[in-house]
Amino acid sequence: MRDRAVPGWLSDAVIYQIYPQSFADSDGDGIGDLPGVLARLDHLSWLGVNVIWFNPLFASPFGDAGYDVSDYFTIAPRYGTEQDLIALVKAARERGIRVMLDLVPGHTSDRHAWFRASADDPGDDRYIWSETRPSEEWVPSTGARQGFYLPNFYPVQPALNFGYARMNPDEPWRRPVDAPGPAANRAALREIIAYWLDLGVSGFRVDMAFSLVKDDPERRETARLWNDVRAWLDTEYPDCALLAEWGDPKTSVPAGFHADFFLHAVGPVWRSLWGNAEGSHRPEWGTDPCFFAPDGRGSPKRFLAAWDEARDAIGGAGHVALPTANHDFSRLVCGSRTASMVAPAFAFLLTWPSLPTIYYGDEIGMRYVPGLPDKEGSQCGPEARQGSRTPMQWDASPNAGFSTAPAGALYLPIDPDPDRPTVEAQRAAPGSLLHQVRALITARRTTPALGTSGTLRVVHDGYPLIYVRGGTHLVVINPRQATATAPLPQDLGMSEAHCLVGGDGVKLGPGGEVSADGFSYGVYRIPQACPAT
Ligand code: GLC
Repeated sequence: MRDRAVPGWLSDAVIYQIYPQSFADSDGDGIGDLPGVLARLDHLSWLGVNVIWFNPLFASPFGDAGYDVSDYFTIAPRYGTEQDLIALVKAARERGIRVMLDLVPGHTSDRHAWFRASADDPGDDRYIWSETRPSEEWVPSTGARQGFYLPNFYPVQPALNFGYARMNPDEPWRRPVDAPGPAANRAALREIIAYWLDLGVSGFRVDMAFSLVKDDPERRETARLWNDVRAWLDTEYPDCALLAEWGDPKTSVPAGFHADFFLHAVGPVWRSLWGNAEGSHRPEWGTDPCFFAPDGRGSPKRFLAAWDEARDAIGGAGHVALPTANHDFSRLVCGSRTASMVAPAFAFLLTWPSLPTIYYGDEIGMRYVPGLPDKEGSQCGPEARQGSRTPMQWDASPNAGFSTAPAGALYLPIDPDPDRPTVEAQRAAPGSLLHQVRALITARRTTPALGTSGTLRVVHDGYPLIYVRGGTHLVVINPRQATATAPLPQDLGMSEAHCLVGGDGVKLGPGGEVSADGFSYGVYRIPQACPAT
């Protein structure tokens, strides 16, 4: 596992996640589309990101915003056509930007032809069926077949059958992983992957990648399945990357993925960093203070420990991806954390050896908008995911330049705040969050020490957080409101350091101490490269 190669483009990636419904609407129907994204590629190129990850673009009845796929080989008409995707991939590559799609392998829509056939044919085992209802979770058949099916997420998302890791005579619906239905599903998975790779996409974010084989202790059979896919990819498509939605990189990378996220819903690690328990949040996740919060009651230690553990397990075989936010949880700007407070989070994101993943709009400080109604399954129990899915704010024209449709026809309303940030205003304002993010992206992409391969040495694990990258660069991050000070190790000799980016409000004293004002950060070149232990 440890000698597996990761495509260089992934190791150098600054990923930008586009929720296609909400990015740019070219045809005035109120919903974003691929030609809309094409028209904004020059902006993304100016920003400096080099990978786009799209949420699902496939045909769907949109019971879960496209995570309920009804045809894996067709682009949803509301986003455009396959030709539009091909044109976009080509135009993006001309600008040095790769495109990743979202692959939903664990379930389909209940309107997918495979499921319709399965719901009418008692002999079909591509989904998981029981004649009796094992628990409330199982959903009554909607076809000629009697019985109940197992959903993977919402009831409209029947689980594809990849088999069970263990048989149980009391549960006759279990099938082994090599039964005909699971074998057909595994073959279909490769067909889907190959189809889109052949059209020029570079890889996939893989939805609920952990969920395939059921009752699978330590996910061993699921790992076997993905490792088979990986072995095939390494031979047939070695430049392709699979980025798991698993939330446990130390398990998912050995299972075959090139990278995986630290995520909000899987343990406290991501939340301990910048999940501020506001916005789209489940009470059971707790309210422990996060590190990037103005009151400064958090600590980076939990994150750092998880980081060390994941890196030790993975070695050079893959990466940990770190999202600012995504379509399932709150943006950085949420509740008590305002746009003027989040620049240090970007400084951390773009100088840490993880894969930085920027959720569209976070780079201008778009906020999580509370109080919106459900849209296409966005309300998931207590999680109001719609608050993170509002249209991109481009300029001061109607609908913030997102769409020419009447405001009432938009996918979700524009943030009603009259002071909402826009791309246009921030591009015109040197020092804006957008310019800071751009400068940080430039610094990362032009300074290998700040990327995934540079070594890491944490020299102060509190407020401020201080670390050395690649033995050549010092990073100071103060995410709280109050000034923070710390001594620097003598070996760094930092008194004449050159500031690469940031630095407002950060002082490196002659005696080797750092003082960082509230919400400040700085990235410095160390005068004499030091040992990076
Ligand atoms: C993933 C997606 C989420 C979706 C779910 C079911 O967690 O990120 O948006 O609802 O899977 O596919």
